[in-house]
Order: sequence, then C-alpha cells, then structure tokens
Amino acid sequence: MTPSPPARSAPQHPHRITLADFRAAAREVLPATAFDYLEGGAADERTVRWNAEAYERLALLPRVLTGTSGVDTRRTLYGTELPSPIVLAPTASHGLFHPEAEAATVRGAAATGALTTVSTFSTLTLEEIGAAATGPWWFQLYVQRDRALTEELVHRAREAGAGACVVTVDTPVTGLRERDLRNGFALPSHGTPANLASPGGPSAGSSTGSRPCAPGSTHQGIHDPRIDPAVGWSDLERLRTVSGLPVLAKGIVRPDDARRAAEAGIGVWMSNHGGRNLDTATAPLATLPAVADAVAGRVPIVVDGGIRRGTDVVKALALGADAVAIGRPYVWGLAVDGADGVSATLRALHRETELALALLGAPDLASLTPDLVGPAW
Ligand code: FNR
Ligand code: LAC
Repeated sequence: MTPSPPARSAPQHPHRITLADFRAAAREVLPATAFDYLEGGAADERTVRWNAEAYERLALLPRVLTGTSGVDTRRTLYGTELPSPIVLAPTASHGLFHPEAEAATVRGAAATGALTTVSTFSTLTLEEIGAAATGPWWFQLYVQRDRALTEELVHRAREAGAGACVVTVDTPVTGLRERDLRNGFALPSHGTPANLASPGGPSAGSSTGSRPCAPGSTHQGIHDPRIDPAVGWSDLERLRTVSGLPVLAKGIVRPDDARRAAEAGIGVWMSNHGGRNLDTATAPLATLPAVADAVAGRVPIVVDGGIRRGTDVVKALALGADAVAIGRPYVWGLAVDGADGVSATLRALHRETELALALLGAPDLASLTPDLVGPAW
C-alpha cells in the first residue's frame, strides 16, 4: 500500500468546495421541474429528511496517538479494486440534466476511478453508455413484466461491459411524487425509453437525441407500467444463474431480507430509494448494524441515502457497509459541469473521506469499526 496524505489536491472550482455548493449551482442552471424531480421525495419527504438526519444523530469517537501518517481508501468489490468506497447510485434520464447524458456521467466517474451504476431508464442505450465508459460500471435492472425482455436487457448490459446487475426491489409501484404531480412532470424515458422501446423490443444502437414523453403520460406521474410489481426472490435467483453476473438487491432495509439475500449469494444494497418511494420508511443507516450482523460478511453491503459528507461515508463504513452510494449529489455535478462536474463532486466527497479517516486515526477502511460511532447526544 502507498498511503497518500489526505486532502492535498486543490478543488477544481475554488468556490465549489462541498456537495451543497454543487446543489446550489445546479438549482441555478436546471429548469425548476427537473430540479424538483431530482430533489424530491415521496409525500411529505420525511424519509428524505431522515436519511440525512440519521447521519447527524451519530457522533464520531476519534482515536488519538495511532501513529497514522497516511490513509488508504481502496476497496475491492466483486474483484474490482476501486480507489474509494464511494460509488454512483443509478439515477434515471441523465439527458434531463446534461446534453451528453450518461456518457458524461461514466466519463466523469472514470476520471476518478469510481464505479457507475447505470439505470434501466437511462437516456442513452446500454451500448452507447458501454462505448463511452472507460471505467467500471454496473447495470441497474427494473424487472419488466416481459421476462424475456428482462433477461435480454441483462444480457445486453453484460455484453456492453457491465460487471454486475443491481436489481431494484423497492419499487413495485412508484411513490407519491407530489412535486412531479403538481408540475405535471413525467420522465422522458418513460415515454420512449432508450433501452425499452415499446412494444417491439429494445432499440439498441439508436442514436441520441430527444426522446420525448408520450402524449398523455404526465397524468400517470412517473409510474412506468412496464415495471413488474410481482417480483420475487426466485426472479433474483434465476437472474443470478442466467446472467453470469453478480446480482445485488437494491432497496433492502430489513435484517431478515438481508439474511435471505446473503443465503442466496445476492449482494445487499441498502436503500429507501432516496426517500422517493415509501414515505416514513426507515433510514438505511438505522438498520445497518442489524443488517451487517445478519449478512455476516457473506456478501457485500452497499448503503445509500443522504450521504453528503466524508464523515457520513466513514459512519456507514464503521457500522458495516462495504461501500456507499450517492444519487442526487453527482447529478448536481452533472448538471453544473457535465463529466467534469461529476468528477468534481466525487473528488470533493473523497477528499472529505480521506480527511475524516486521518482525523479518526484510521489508516484504512478496515480500521473503521463500530466503536468509532456513538450517539450525538
Ligand atoms: C433515483 N434512484 C433510482 N434508483 C434506481 O434503482 N433506479 C433509478 O432509475 C433511479 N432513479 C433515480 C432518479 C433520481 C433523480 C434520484 C434522485 C434517485 C434512487 C437512487 O439510486 C438512490 O437510491 C438515491 O438517490 C440515494 O439517495 P441520495 O444519495 O440521492 O440521497
Ligand atoms: C426514480 C425512479 C426512476 O426514482 O427510480 O425517479
């Protein structure tokens, strides 16, 4: 290991230091409806708030005199060594936020060595994204009612270079997105999705450009009728067999579900969808210790929701996560500055994480243990 001193490199835009700075800049550049779609959660947005508050309620208990002179933030996930434990959560329709869409996202992530998870509802096709990607990426799957199409999607993702399949299991139906309903907003990808041309099959190789909403789709909010609400464990087990890829279940918050996933060799991605689906669903951080016990190291645990600071990253890792994921924050970067903005947000969070490790007296991620975290009051 070659430990590097923390927080050396200067930020790219001196006036944009934190993820909150990128949020403020994104709010300036985005149309209000797109910003609301990005920002919003379900109903009263209590879970959106809880996701962030869960981190605020925890204090760090730093070790002193550990002789730590540098920190190593490397983490290996499914055989891929990453320079940082921070990965990009899947978010739909990047064309809403930047003209280069997911091509900018995967390039920006790769510039920092980060792993991107590409949404089923991407603006560009899996093939276009795979061609633009120079770093590792996973495919996020919404299981379609048409199971043959579902398996074909996973096959296409694998052919295009995806290293794992992340099946989202917390969205049998879409949550009550009241901002979007008020704005009459519907995702462009739900009209003519790049990966799911309807009804005749995928539109692989189609060129970029506008993929407008189907007329009349706005009254449905953003629910997509192609998503199958009746997904079960057997679907994930089958995907694991037929895809030849590692499979993770995204949207687990309960220890019993986590245990079942681990027993089936399915990775656990703890999430409440950024508070966008079931309002008042628990913050994943609250159940992380029990989930980590249930999983007992058998499969990786990824945690997302409300991570905005390096101190949040170390808290999740200390309580048992192998990696964390961010959703909204890198999209703020994408909106503000395309690929460079994505890199800038990842670098900002990574620098803060290095600094937190150094100040905790933790030389590497393995030394982040639960005793470093306690109640804030
Ligand atoms: C999402 N999320 C999401 N999840 C998923 O599995 N498939 C998807 O297509 C999307 N799309 C999506 C769009 C937007 C605009 C947002 C904000 C989120 C959820 C996402 O993967 C992740 O769980 C949360 O965003 C994590 O919370 P933070 O980091 O945004 O607080
Ligand atoms: C969302 C869907 C697309 O959260 O997952 O907007």
